Amino acid sequence: MSTVIVNKIYELKKHIKDWKNNNYTIGLVPTMGALHKGHASLIKEAREACDKVVVSVFVNPIQFGPNEDFDKYPRQIDNDKALCEELGVDIIFAPSAEEMYGKNNRLNNTDLTFVCPPYNLVDCLCGKSRQGHFDGVATVVLKLFNITKADFAFFGQKDAQQLYIIKTMVRDLNLDIKIVPCSIVRENDGLALSSRNTYLSKEERSWALSMSKALNQIKTLYDGGVTDTNVLLDSAISILNKNLDIEYIEFRDFDTFEKIDNAKTNTLVAIAAKSGKTRLIDNIIL
Ligand code: PAJ
Repeated sequence: MSTVIVNKIYELKKHIKDWKNNNYTIGLVPTMGALHKGHASLIKEAREACDKVVVSVFVNPIQFGPNEDFDKYPRQIDNDKALCEELGVDIIFAPSAEEMYGKNNRLNNTDLTFVCPPYNLVDCLCGKSRQGHFDGVATVVLKLFNITKADFAFFGQKDAQQLYIIKTMVRDLNLDIKIVPCSIVRENDGLALSSRNTYLSKEERSWALSMSKALNQIKTLYDGGVTDTNVLLDSAISILNKNLDIEYIEFRDFDTFEKIDNAKTNTLVAIAAKSGKTRLIDNIIL
């Protein structure tokens, strides 16, 4: 079976209508393309759970700040199509920015209705350095939910804050869709897969590797009975490569997203750092 690339919303809606008429369940995997094994794991879960699978490939301009990597973000639709074909994806939805937003499609767009996730969820972690980022994410994701009428949508825990914000949006806006969280896929040496890893030099990659090492160290100490987040933080800092520019390491209750001083079950330990010019994120759940 071959994967069809659809660029137009009206065209995708025709397929969706047809599927709905046949009572097929629809799974959506929203991505920005440059697909890797992390994305593949989401697609595989969707393929198993749903009759029809749509993968969206869209580098969403309204979630990038003016000094971020929108222009250089990797775009490789031919490779993406080959992988989707292998995994049995029915449709790749790859709209242009104009198709999604009309002419003025940048982050500071004032002519667009935005979804604003709760302040306490966006004014922390990645939202601090990426002003407006999660408004852009929530907005495009809601549009994709509406366009595809998906029953299930698959999101990686790699972007834990994004996952939490999307789950909150679904709850708050009474959306009829089930969010399926998927675990983080890593390279053999522990580095979390990311489309941005392609930016890393060999040296920067080796520095970045200390992020997952530090998270594992926290997990080992926690499993051994250490719960004081200051102690856990100090141990992580001792492992993190000194060439990394650490933006944050934080402990949050993954049920409420509140900051915590004592780690417990379902604590999110999230880290963001720059290795060279490349900003990377990773996390672990205790
Ligand atoms: P993107 O970075 O392409 O990621 C698409 C999905 O793949 C997200 O749900 C992300 O968490 C998941 N993912 C990325 N790396 C992963 C890994 N190593 N293991 C498991 N899952 C991984 O996240 C976005 O795109 C965008 O913000 C989007 C939701 C598409 C909205 O534009």
